[in-house]
Amino acid sequence: MQNFKTLDDINPAGQRVLVRVDLNVPMQDGRVTDDTRIKSVAPTIKELSDKGAKIILLAHFGRPKGQFVPELSLKAVIPALEQALGQKVAFAADEGALDIEDDLNSLSNGDILLLENIRIYPGEEKNDASFSKKLASFADLYVNDGFSVSHRAHASTEGLAHHLPAFAGRSMQAELEALENALGAPKTPVAAIVGGAKVSTKLSVLTHLVEKVDMLIIGGGMANTFLAAQGKPMGKSLHEADLIDTAKNVFDLAEKNSCEIILPVDVVMATDFAENAPNRSGDIDTIESNEMVLDIGEQTIEAIINKLNDCATLIWNGPFGAFEMKPFDNGTITIAKTIAALCKEDKLVAVGGGGDTVAALNQAGVSQDMTYISTAGGAFLEWMEGKELPGVKALLK
Ligand code: 3PG
Repeated sequence: MQNFKTLDDINPAGQRVLVRVDLNVPMQDGRVTDDTRIKSVAPTIKELSDKGAKIILLAHFGRPKGQFVPELSLKAVIPALEQALGQKVAFAADEGALDIEDDLNSLSNGDILLLENIRIYPGEEKNDASFSKKLASFADLYVNDGFSVSHRAHASTEGLAHHLPAFAGRSMQAELEALENALGAPKTPVAAIVGGAKVSTKLSVLTHLVEKVDMLIIGGGMANTFLAAQGKPMGKSLHEADLIDTAKNVFDLAEKNSCEIILPVDVVMATDFAENAPNRSGDIDTIESNEMVLDIGEQTIEAIINKLNDCATLIWNGPFGAFEMKPFDNGTITIAKTIAALCKEDKLVAVGGGGDTVAALNQAGVSQDMTYISTAGGAFLEWMEGKELPGVKALLK
């Protein structure tokens, strides 16, 4: 296990603690529509508050690019934050001067203060040392609980760790422990499922994983590019013809590393990309020029389930088909249920991450049974690429 300090290593009573969280949450008409990220950081904030810390929350929302943008003010998340915490949260309204001494001085033990969108300050994304020092001067300790933004080397995610004693929050800790169990020192055999639309967006993920896992199951539009590389007809299916050579390289790399690549053998096809479009199932070789692949077929589902039954560890990112449209959600939902059931029976350690994967697990109603679900998008992918995340590196002892 990598060596980092956690909340177990501090006694924060009466101390000011800067806590970096990820409040980059989906919003509509000024209201939070999905509070998963807020709920994931609530335990850290509550624990620090219960222990008598004076908490100063740092977070970003969107990309205001170093200037105050009223529509990207973090004030709008306060009601959802207060609801998740069951506690009042003060807001340090600011348009760029970072003149917040009065807000800080009014904090009593256990109080929580949220600063304005940290990305309105130009020093944040530049990871400017003087900006980090200024933030550090507000507090005694620094806690990073924002794994999902720790792939950014910014002042609030990386710089601060050089100026204050730095600790991982509970959500960061859980994330790092789960990821270590999945790829660092996993129980073997290890499988990875990589799905989604395009090979181009996950090429580094694929090339890293074939060196790490025993089995790579490829789904979604990106499987089509691999099937096209094997000379299969793709009809109107989403695929990247210009990446066929790249797909062939992934096959070669997999062979060199004794990684088995699993692709669909049968699929569900339709002539229209629409909910409930008339469709048929058939062998992968039978796709007509006016048809497109929208899901994996029953034989493929069965083959994947058989493989998963033999695995000890699984990493999952990306759906198998157009899971947002019925009936093309069948493959993704059936596999999600199978994975969750194996986790529940302690037969599999499975870590899922990324927006579509989380949505599919929620749609299948099995999120609670997974070993771990990462709230991260880009950070989860960078971790799957084998990259060291700057915000995580800065926490290591
Ligand atoms: C995310 O939503 O993935 C994180 O909050 C990071 O956001 P960013 O891509 O704007 O850095």
